[in-house]
Amino acid sequence: MRALLDRLFPARAMREIGVLGMNGRNINYISRYNSRQLYPLVDDKLKTKQLALEHGVTTPELIGVISAQHDVRRIAELVKGHDGFCIKPAKGSGGKGILVVARVEDGRFFRTNGTEIPLIDLQRHLSNVLAGLFSLGGAPDVAIIEALIRPDEVFRDYSYAGVPDIRVVVFQGVPVMAMVRLSCAASNGKANLHQGAVGVGLAMDTGRAVCAVQRNRPVFIHPDTGHPLDGLVIPHWHALLELSCACADMTGLGYLGVDLVMDRERGPMLLELNARPGLAIQMANGTGLLPRLRRVEAEPRIVKAGVRERAAFAARHFGTRPAAIAAVA
Ligand SMILES: Nc1ncnc2c1ncn2[C@@H]1O[C@H](COP(=O)(O)OP(=O)(O)O)[C@@H](O)[C@H]1O
Ligand SMILES: [Mg+2]
Repeated sequence: MRALLDRLFPARAMREIGVLGMNGRNINYISRYNSRQLYPLVDDKLKTKQLALEHGVTTPELIGVISAQHDVRRIAELVKGHDGFCIKPAKGSGGKGILVVARVEDGRFFRTNGTEIPLIDLQRHLSNVLAGLFSLGGAPDVAIIEALIRPDEVFRDYSYAGVPDIRVVVFQGVPVMAMVRLSCAASNGKANLHQGAVGVGLAMDTGRAVCAVQRNRPVFIHPDTGHPLDGLVIPHWHALLELSCACADMTGLGYLGVDLVMDRERGPMLLELNARPGLAIQMANGTGLLPRLRRVEAEPRIVKAGVRERAAFAARHFGTRPAAIAAVA
């Protein structure tokens, strides 16, 4: 992380723009504001789904769960009638073990890039998920089979064969920074930065792109579609900000990464939550988290306010002008 930060921001500039480092995040934010006993709610995607259901927060449709090796052969029957789905480890992270089946035709399965996945490979993948190959600590896990998310039309020019997700860092219930992660050919239909997705920082008042990085380097166009990234504006921005506040409220965690997706038919929904959100969001925004976190800490009144007021506070104080693009370029 240090090397990465140094490359984009020289030491002095890093201090000036208030970049939060790994130690600062762990000591001053994660351990201070996130109670350990709440981690299981967000470290297990099935538990998160259950919690969301209880709080009326929409999540992608659950087709089923496979939890025993002898049920792996039931997959074809389980997904019957669905024209796409996604297999994921309940306790996975960083896109590991995620297999997106973008098309099902006559009982045959196809990836986002069009290549076929034989049934036997799907079964082997499920078997690996159950064995814990992709999961936290390598412990045995269960496989979640989820309906395919179909991204909102607004992303058509900005993502390649995959579903973009919108990460909002929410501190004491107040959204402080956001980015959209765009899938590319390099990221295999996944929107994880480590898999090669593009991270685009967003102005908190408008949801407009301010600056973008791929593999820690500034980028200005989508690498596959060639579309300039500065024209990207996330629709229904204020509704998304409020949704991120509601998601934080239901967990009780004080420092949280909320990942939202925009489905063409079902609208905004919660994809997953993260109690140890990464720091690369600062690269994607060309600015540091610290001044924003301190702004919230200095305002105890706002953390007790309702969802609307907290979202409005974020828009008022953390809007970034598009000039930030030039600052990193
Ligand atoms: N149901 C789905 N339909 C289509 N793509 C999905 C689906 N679920 C996840 N993805 C893609 O895979 C990526 C990783 O999934 P996610 O649930 O966030 O797990 P992880 O914890 O590994 O990041 C998402 O950012 C998205 O691009
Ligand atoms: Mg994710």
